[in-house]
Amino acid sequence: DKTLIVSAPGKVILHGEHAVVHGKVALAVSLNLRTYLQIGLCSNGRVQINLPNIDTWIITPGKRTTNQLTTSQEQVDKLRQFAGIPDGCVDTRSLAILCFLYLYGAISASSRQLPSMEILVWSELPTGAGLGSSAAYSVCLAAALLTANESIACPVPEENGTVRWAEDELELINKWAFQGEKLIHGNPSGVDNAVGTWGGALKYHAGKIMPLNRIPTLRILLTNTKVPRSTKTLVAGVKDKLNKFPSIIGPILNSIDAISCECERTLAAIVAGDSTEESYAVLEELIDINQHHLNVIGVGHSSLDRLCQATALHSLHSKLTGAGGGGCGITLLRPDTSPSVVEASKRALNDMGYDCWETNIGGHG
Ligand code: MEV
Repeated sequence: DKTLIVSAPGKVILHGEHAVVHGKVALAVSLNLRTYLQIGLCSNGRVQINLPNIDTWIITPGKRTTNQLTTSQEQVDKLRQFAGIPDGCVDTRSLAILCFLYLYGAISASSRQLPSMEILVWSELPTGAGLGSSAAYSVCLAAALLTANESIACPVPEENGTVRWAEDELELINKWAFQGEKLIHGNPSGVDNAVGTWGGALKYHAGKIMPLNRIPTLRILLTNTKVPRSTKTLVAGVKDKLNKFPSIIGPILNSIDAISCECERTLAAIVAGDSTEESYAVLEELIDINQHHLNVIGVGHSSLDRLCQATALHSLHSKLTGAGGGGCGITLLRPDTSPSVVEASKRALNDMGYDCWETNIGGHG
């Protein structure tokens, strides 16, 4: 019996969340927090998945059931029934199972029937917090299942121990991970699974993925307000607002697009060594403006307002990251922000019941 372990990073969106769903630019970077998936191929006629982070689930459909799965909506509805998941359900466990069943069936139907297997998934990422946990899960599932049915080759480790798939294989992984994300989130832009697949920093625009090579090492304080929310519901809320007030919300989404572009230019200027002080002041202003925009389009939350106020007391600038409505926020630290300021901000945020840590960004895909 063979065993394979794959992993994918979570992400933070610097700018462009929600606007990216409507074809605008987003800038996103991978995190040093990852999801891991171990897949063991066996021949016992059973398919099992174990997700200890979100409770343990074991599924053992007979071979006949899994043979019948395909990619059609009708089959997705059958899967929902099979797993007892009602339409419109936003429960993390149910959606994770549905995503697995779907990818197992659809990848089998697209080329070769997948064998029996045992899967174990564990993650350093909090779920439903805006850090791309579902995308990292979908990327891991796609990579493992595509390898298991030999749609992509099992990569050979390089001398320094890193393992990379070829570009066309990464594209295939990303394509299937996006299908998984669609099942979980309804109408995602694809930015989260792109970061999970390729890692690093990237610009995402209308489905096009452009690696960002000219970005400095950013110091970011990441805060989890621990307020739960559903990306699907928040994305749908923005769409409703845009449909209701196109000439009011449309320009705000255009402005967020311009913020992403200005941020990209400013990051490149910092790399080029152009007056870093001024550039950081621009980055901070962009964060403030975008946070106001995100409140206007209805994805703010009082927990995030409190986060912004607490860090502003230390002259730091924060915005939500990901879907908003609670979840996580990012605070930009300057290269020379003193440890005492960081510690005081962390203490204030911890006192409010939030989890908070300084992160490294740019983990590999
Ligand atoms: C979620 O991480 C980012 C959103 O823009 C949704 C998406 O892009 O699919 C809110």
